[in-house]
Amino acid sequence: MKKINLALAALLFTTTMNAQNAPQLRADNIDEVLAAMTLEEKAKLLVGGANNFFSDGAVVGGEASLVAGAAGTTAAIPRLGIPATVLTDGPAGVRINPTREGTDKTFYATGFPIGTCLAATWNTDLVRKVGEAIGNETKEYRCDVILGPGMNLHRNPLCGRNFEYYSEDPLLTGKIAAAYINGVQSQGAGVSAKHFAVNSQETARTHVDERVSARAARELYLRGFEIAVRESNPWTFMASYNRINGIFSMGNLDLLTKILREDWGYKGIVMTDWIGIREGLRTIDEVIAGNDLMEPGQPKQAEEIVAGVKSGSLSIEYVDRNVRRMLEYIVKTPSFNHYPATNAPDLKAHAQITRESATEGIVLLKNNGTLPWNTDGQKIKTVSLFGENSYEFFSGGTGSGCVHTPYVVDMVEGLKNIGISSSDVLTDIYRKYIDYAKVKFQAERHPAKWYQMEMFGQQKYPEIAISPICIANEVKKADAAIVTIGRQAGEGVDRDIEGEFNLTADERQMIFDVCNAFHAEGKPVIVVINSGSVIETSSWSGYPDAILCAWQPGEEGGNSVADILTGKVNPSGKLTMTWPVAAADHPSTKNYPGSIDLYTYNELKTNGREVPNYDYTNHDEGIYVGYRYFDTYGREVAYPFGFGLSYTTFAYSKPQVTQKGEQIEVKVTIKNTGKVAGKEVAQVYVTAPKGSLDKPAKELKAFGKTRELKPGESETLTMTLQRRDLASFDEGQSAWVVDAGNYLFQIGANVSDIRATANLNVKGMVEKTTTAFAQK
Ligand code: BGC
Repeated sequence: MKKINLALAALLFTTTMNAQNAPQLRADNIDEVLAAMTLEEKAKLLVGGANNFFSDGAVVGGEASLVAGAAGTTAAIPRLGIPATVLTDGPAGVRINPTREGTDKTFYATGFPIGTCLAATWNTDLVRKVGEAIGNETKEYRCDVILGPGMNLHRNPLCGRNFEYYSEDPLLTGKIAAAYINGVQSQGAGVSAKHFAVNSQETARTHVDERVSARAARELYLRGFEIAVRESNPWTFMASYNRINGIFSMGNLDLLTKILREDWGYKGIVMTDWIGIREGLRTIDEVIAGNDLMEPGQPKQAEEIVAGVKSGSLSIEYVDRNVRRMLEYIVKTPSFNHYPATNAPDLKAHAQITRESATEGIVLLKNNGTLPWNTDGQKIKTVSLFGENSYEFFSGGTGSGCVHTPYVVDMVEGLKNIGISSSDVLTDIYRKYIDYAKVKFQAERHPAKWYQMEMFGQQKYPEIAISPICIANEVKKADAAIVTIGRQAGEGVDRDIEGEFNLTADERQMIFDVCNAFHAEGKPVIVVINSGSVIETSSWSGYPDAILCAWQPGEEGGNSVADILTGKVNPSGKLTMTWPVAAADHPSTKNYPGSIDLYTYNELKTNGREVPNYDYTNHDEGIYVGYRYFDTYGREVAYPFGFGLSYTTFAYSKPQVTQKGEQIEVKVTIKNTGKVAGKEVAQVYVTAPKGSLDKPAKELKAFGKTRELKPGESETLTMTLQRRDLASFDEGQSAWVVDAGNYLFQIGANVSDIRATANLNVKGMVEKTTTAFAQK
């Protein structure tokens, strides 16, 4: 007994001594700490610490998370002074549990506009401001990294996660993302640019193989990420769940090392998306590929790394390389720097920022002169609000991208705040219906449909039919009607064409009936679209007097819509994606999952069979995504890329395009020629001279937004790009190639409304890249 006690004391002594002698991590002793780490400690650091998503502090596969509801952590190694860091979703605000056991204090976070709405502002200064507020909340809630921005391309309007992403155009995606990232990181918190890459479909996302050409990948799906790296240096990247040309992104050396680090010079860390061990992919291959952090992390993964090094199948050099990157990340974090989180960010100030940014992202699609209300002697005092989402206004989407907001301003409240009331009978009908629909929905939810749980965001309930008698009574009482068409979507599932992209029969009927009845009495009808992504409009857009696309504008939604309705703010948002007449007009729709969801698919799939658009997805359309297709092939659209109306009009001067060194400068003067103040977004599209590669008719190469111009006032916008930005990717040479010749610069109010042009003669250039993604 005595002997054992002595041995224990000796062990304790050595451990204490080790702890005392061990170097403690500082920003300037990373080499020393790395040298002092055991293999087990190194492996531990490469594997995430916990997944706290579904629970309040419970442990799933690791250490307890420090912040209830945060998505994950990195492991702590106290012996070396390495703290755990906390990773939280993202991207529309900090996604943590709003309440905690043992305290009455709440932890609600501001619900900012979804990605699509932010991008529709085309205002990088404003997006940066949103980023700053999100960075501040990340830190104040004791987190280190916000898991966003979501940067995948809108390849097709049916993607369930388009709401988290910005655009069908990579330049706009990259510029908006860089503004968001610079905003967050200016606060001393980090971001995770996700989902890297080609994750433009949700169906079967954890195993689908995206079969895409190197050219389409480089020019479209990767380009936004490249811009973000060059212009904002994200602390972290998140590798997507899917495979690209046969190889999982998470273990894809071409993607994570050759392209990301060698071609683009990225210095931060890459983490996996939240999946743990993957069938057909070894953790050690992820380490070799340049994936620094396995999230949410399972102890088994660390064991695999240790065993790999011991058996010689994983070189310690790869482990050290990744651990070094982890340490470089950790020393930047608020946790490491002992930031005194208050758990009390200024939610009031941030509500103002979300309201302002949402208002600027709202796109006016149609206006026959009815808007703005109450400015021309009109007297709109009472409005009939149709559609359940007038009362259950969506602030954001579902899944990890939802935010627990302190409140959501619906249309009733938004109108009330500007002195307009909603008619009482209709309000009563809908409010009671929603109470019932909520309970019914949860009671009937399939247990596998986790994203339909209340904790994963507001849900869409079926519309109720409002009888003609009821509508007739409304016409008597109200001065106008608003019909809100709501759509909800989120991760793991794509949208159907019927009932999701297209309106349901009930919704269409509601628009027709309300328009007929109100118009018969000379009263206006506005349709408000409360959706994160594109819907069909052509079959009904002729009916209402005005259509506003409000997206999912964050917690201040109803106020933001009211700001536009009354003209307090003149709309200046523009579409960041094409609105097609029919979903099938997009060439990608034929290679896009249909109406079977993942769960049905799992039940249906027969052993060993590869199912198109589930097991693999062909990108037959190549680079002809969005307007690159519609504009080049002259196809009719409902609303073109870049479209958005204003309450005023703008004139464009003749542009000047000049080149100084590698930089090309485009100058254009925009004049407000209408009667009210407003902002304008100018878009620079470029047509390349005929060269060896087939190219889209024109591509967005720069954009700018004016300040608010008073009637008669002008502003000269200076928009810049680099000569390299004119390049196309030549797979044969593995190089970016700018053809020499005459480039036509077209400055437009949208892709189909070019206002002024100028030519520039450009010298050719070739920039070699690695051979990543080259066809073998
Ligand atoms: C999503 C990510 C998210 C992560 C952590 C995943 O399922 O794809 O976007 O950041 O979960 O919640």
